[in-house]
Amino acid sequence: MKMDWNKDLSGMNTFRMRVSCRCFVEYGSVEELKAVLADRSFPRPFFPLGGGSNLLFTKDYPGTILHCGMESIDYLGSGRVYADAGVVWDDFCAWCASKGLWGPENLSYIPGEVGASAVQNIGAYGREAGELIESVACVEAGTSNVVVIPAGECGYAYRDSRFKHYWKGRYFVTGVTFRLSEVPKPELDYGHVREAVKEKYGTDDPDLLTPAMIRGVVTDIRKGKLPEVSELGSAGSFFRNPYVDVKTLEAIRNKAQEEGLGIVPSFTIGGDCFKVPAAWLIDKCGWKGKELGGAAVFEKQPLVLVNKSGGASPDEVIALEEEIRASVKAKFGVALEKEVEYV
Ligand code: EPU
Repeated sequence: MKMDWNKDLSGMNTFRMRVSCRCFVEYGSVEELKAVLADRSFPRPFFPLGGGSNLLFTKDYPGTILHCGMESIDYLGSGRVYADAGVVWDDFCAWCASKGLWGPENLSYIPGEVGASAVQNIGAYGREAGELIESVACVEAGTSNVVVIPAGECGYAYRDSRFKHYWKGRYFVTGVTFRLSEVPKPELDYGHVREAVKEKYGTDDPDLLTPAMIRGVVTDIRKGKLPEVSELGSAGSFFRNPYVDVKTLEAIRNKAQEEGLGIVPSFTIGGDCFKVPAAWLIDKCGWKGKELGGAAVFEKQPLVLVNKSGGASPDEVIALEEEIRASVKAKFGVALEKEVEYV
């Protein structure tokens, strides 16, 4: 077990906020995690930190940050794979692709770790982690019991799971079992993925594709659109894409027509529910590339806020977030919700 007091966290959150925590523990086994959770000398509250890629530290953390130091991947047979919570997500994607296992390839190059993938239900290019998960192994905070929760009980939905609210603080994820496919199962229907695959490999025939090929295309797309977290601090998409009813969609369309903003992109979710890209709403409010203190809206994808100066404070990022939300609400009547967790 590694332990540190008053640890600087600037290298442990991709937004690169200069904050510290009272205590930091990296556990190397489930037994170590259980011991820490039961030990009253560790300052509370506990917070599980993965790659720190989907959060904004708003101040120094007063309790104990727990990080999983276990990094094994085991093939269980018949397409089933177990990965420790501390495995870097993209290493997991690369491992699966190298074994010819289908499923995570569209989720390639997402920053973060396996444990957080099961909490956040990470998603990209038409696939979500929740669809691939069989069960999630956890330690329960109050009892230190080990529990294995089937995916069907985790409440997976767009960027959501029970771990994020209903079970918040109750379970610490130690590993995830995935059910992947040994037969080709390419998902090419999101955005320009199919065109990009055809362009790079000359075919979109599932029998001629491999997960490694799709992984290559998705990685290239992400590299072209999103900031490299090693070069520019960010936490990926800052807001969720809002779901709106038909009345709101009509109001957005009317506004777009009135102001000559072009066609409003929208996707049917089902019933009276449509998804409108937050990037479009933010873009049309004129935010692309705008700066506020050291924080800024990323030029290529306005859904992403960045630590442009490298020294942006949490307050500067929060001020930018609030101004964006207020302007989208004022212009389109849509209340954006944060995708990034404030800690
Ligand atoms: N758009 C604009 N202006 C821009 C960029 C985009 O208007 O400058 C509009 C376009 O209409 C475009 C649409 O936004 O078609 C959607 O853009 P994109 O396909 O890039 O995806 P997104 O909806 O903005 C979501 C995820 C991403 C994920 C991509 C691909 C959320 C909150 N974000 O973004 O996830 O990579 O789809 O699946 O759902 C992340 O969570 O960190 C992340 C990057």
